[in-house]
Amino acid sequence: MAEISKSAVVGAAPDGASDQHSAARAVQEMFTSIAPRYDLLNHVLSLNVDRIWWRRTARTFQHILNHPGARVLDLCCGTGDMSFALCRQAGKSRPQIFGADFSHAMLQRAAAKSATTAEGPVPGWIEADALNLPCSGQHFDLVTSAFGFRNLTNYDAGLREIVRVLRPGGECGILDFGEPSGALGALYRVYFKQVLPRVGTLISGVRGPYAYLPASVERFPAPEEMLTRMRAAGFAETAWTPYTFGIAGLYRGWKG
Ligand SMILES: C[S@@+](CC[C@H](N)C(=O)[O-])C[C@H]1O[C@@H](n2cnc3c(N)ncnc32)[C@H](O)[C@@H]1O
Repeated sequence: MAEISKSAVVGAAPDGASDQHSAARAVQEMFTSIAPRYDLLNHVLSLNVDRIWWRRTARTFQHILNHPGARVLDLCCGTGDMSFALCRQAGKSRPQIFGADFSHAMLQRAAAKSATTAEGPVPGWIEADALNLPCSGQHFDLVTSAFGFRNLTNYDAGLREIVRVLRPGGECGILDFGEPSGALGALYRVYFKQVLPRVGTLISGVRGPYAYLPASVERFPAPEEMLTRMRAAGFAETAWTPYTFGIAGLYRGWKG
């Protein structure tokens, strides 16, 4: 079977996928297969820095989370850590916060975590495809996605869908991995391409996903290109803030 053309559509393309549909199915199956160990692996492989990144992203949107009437959607929420960080940041304001993902197994873990949350608001969970959201347009004040957007099989379609569901003046925050430059970048690439796939495979017992991770980051547009794509999708203003020397970064978009 021919592989997806790397230039036709810019989006995730796991090995062996022949078109967007089979690529999306492969992504969904991959996350479903690692759902039981996802949280443990995340924290081990990122040395717990992931928690700092989620919290920092949530803090960035404090001005929206302060409004009790705000509606927030966390796309590709997986086991829900970004959604929980948003809830914690909102505190007593209690805006409506939803996490959406197309892997049932990931959402089950998110819901189990809600059930053991001792106090405060918890997100609502929606099983949905980020490329075809089951909601009317102009609904949300804020759409976030942490380490999920990169896995969409069509980035431009994903951005257009976010713009569609944001109300005018709404904001978007996409947190994802980057590729740091310089000596640190070289060191990091050794870790990301050699060490991480081996440790990931060892702990999860599944080979594919942790080889896919560095490949998907390599495929992801560089910040300048991503910002151009965001503006082409309909964001009036865009910005990128590197986190931890550019290992990750937050893309922000404002809908005019
Ligand atoms: C790397 S995980 C990120 C989970 C979480 N946001 C975090 O920060 O840990 C990526 C998630 O994106 C989801 N995903 C990928 N493509 C999707 C799509 N088209 N629609 C909905 N969810 C998708 C996967 O099922 C997976 O749970």
